[in-house]
Amino acid sequence: MQKIKLGILGGGGDSLIGVLHRVASFINDNYELTGAVFNPNWEENIGFAEELGIPTNRIYKDFDTLIEEELKLPKEERIQVCSILTPNFLHFPMAKKLMENGFHVICEKPMTNTYEEAKILADLQREKGVVFGLTHTYTGYPMVRQMRHMIANGELGKIQKVDVRYYQGWINPIIHDKEKRSSIWRLDPEKAGISCCMGDIGTHAFNMVEYTTGLRVEKLLADLNYLYEDNKMDIDGNIMLHIEGGVRGILRSSQIATGEENGLAIAIYGSKKALKWEQENPNRLKVMSDSEPMQIYTPGHAYLSEFSLDGTKLPPGHPEGIFDSMANIYLGVARAIRNQNPRSGEYPTVIDGVRGLNFIESAVKSQKDGNVWVELDKQD
Ligand SMILES: NC(=O)c1ccc[n+]([C@@H]2O[C@H](COP(=O)([O-])OP(=O)(O)OC[C@H]3O[C@@H](n4cnc5c(N)ncnc54)[C@H](O)[C@@H]3O)[C@@H](O)[C@H]2O)c1
Repeated sequence: MQKIKLGILGGGGDSLIGVLHRVASFINDNYELTGAVFNPNWEENIGFAEELGIPTNRIYKDFDTLIEEELKLPKEERIQVCSILTPNFLHFPMAKKLMENGFHVICEKPMTNTYEEAKILADLQREKGVVFGLTHTYTGYPMVRQMRHMIANGELGKIQKVDVRYYQGWINPIIHDKEKRSSIWRLDPEKAGISCCMGDIGTHAFNMVEYTTGLRVEKLLADLNYLYEDNKMDIDGNIMLHIEGGVRGILRSSQIATGEENGLAIAIYGSKKALKWEQENPNRLKVMSDSEPMQIYTPGHAYLSEFSLDGTKLPPGHPEGIFDSMANIYLGVARAIRNQNPRSGEYPTVIDGVRGLNFIESAVKSQKDGNVWVELDKQD
């Protein structure tokens, strides 16, 4: 089968997330890296392409040139899908122009800087009929897919309580130094949007709640923490959630949880069973009930759902991890581009992006209005 021609925007040698996308796109043999703007600085941009050993004739000086030059090529030679891996404020203009010109999009979260922009992208995606994948990376883990399957299958009974937390500590050594805290884009509202902690990682936690339970968050009450007056961006917070069907939830997220690494964890308690999963130990899903000892499900076994098994490439006991999880999202997008009808949940969509921005803005509004309940929209 012909490989899908992939373009990459951002994700240069200096970036955090670039390598995850490049490797993920390669894993299931669906994509070929065809063109890129890895970096706004030309020397670094072309230097990185040379370092990767990829042809440099389609490394462009900037995003507008990429679009202009690619459109001059016959359709069968053109980049088909672009991954947007830049700081947040560039996601919207890039995704918009890509879709307007008929390209499919893979976009990092948060999808845009504002809720308004997110809704514009959703309308455009519907109008153009292009594929839009949002890389909420953790949805690609086999055991997360198993959670979604078991809950949809009613195995937990009625969902009663959801507890999600996402704790990191990396901002702690930065936040206490005035110069340092003004030097990173994640703490600059122009570049990151109105929230740091909830925008950067709270949005993953929020997505996990809706992705695994299949239930919408209806309203929230946030208590966000900024630590310093000159810091405009939350770096920690606790949010109470009211989820449809009368379910209560709590979302805790922090970037000043000293010593924490990438501590995303979710527990979902139903009337019959409960599930517990942790990102730092992603191949162990705890299944709990009142009547039996706790069970631990692991990937690749016949007792798992087809959806979960589809996300595993090796026999049980061969640990797969975050590269494979992202690769599963790339696989879902590839199936959608090829009209192979991927299952719901194989890749997060533009609607997850809209929900994410609705969450972020509601959380900040709740805080600014004096820690009050704020209703989320019911869009779909
Ligand atoms: N899915 C996840 O779990 C996850 C994890 C980390 C980051 N992210 C998201 O990925 C995005 C990038 O984050 P990061 O930590 O890699 O950032 P980063 O600052 O480490 O890297 C950003 C990259 O974009 C490049 N860039 C900046 N402006 C550009 C432009 N105009 N044209 C082309 N390239 C440009 C930079 O040179 C750099 O290579 C953010 O939106 C972030 O929220 C997602």
